[in-house]
Amino acid sequence: MKIALGADHAGFELKENIKRLLAAEGVQVDDQGTHSTESVDYPDFARAVGEEVARRQADFGILVCGTGVGMSMSANKVPGIRAAKADTEYEAEMARAHNDANVLCLGARVTDAAMAAKLVRKFLETRFEAGRHQRRVDKIMSIERQGIDDLRLKVDD
Ligand code: RB5
Repeated sequence: MKIALGADHAGFELKENIKRLLAAEGVQVDDQGTHSTESVDYPDFARAVGEEVARRQADFGILVCGTGVGMSMSANKVPGIRAAKADTEYEAEMARAHNDANVLCLGARVTDAAMAAKLVRKFLETRFEAGRHQRRVDKIMSIERQGIDDLRLKVDD
């Protein structure tokens, strides 16, 4: 398994923790940065990780910013990405089992290292259940394919 990792300055320390955890478990990691606590813009890292996952150069992505919100908003703009911010193990599990999430977003200012380790483990060990959930995930992806202009026309009708 290969994981693409990314963080902004707020998520840097937690990202380093997660990198050590994954490496200790023999998981291949591609660290897209950032590499210090110097202020940077989270969309740059969300895009890099999102594109790596969308191109199937990594199995999953993990993104860390202060809240996880900006990373999830940004990563979800990359076609093919289903990014989920999770604060609880249940959310991390369901994001995989029901939503087939391919990127996990964490907030370093709301999630400590011990909880982050649990969230990462739960996310990576959980399989997508498909079945009825496949139809719903297909509908998510059809929204993406349809495009925002097309969608707006339908809403205005
Ligand atoms: C940086 O201060 C902070 O805005 C960022 O890490 C993130 O929380 C945004 O969603």
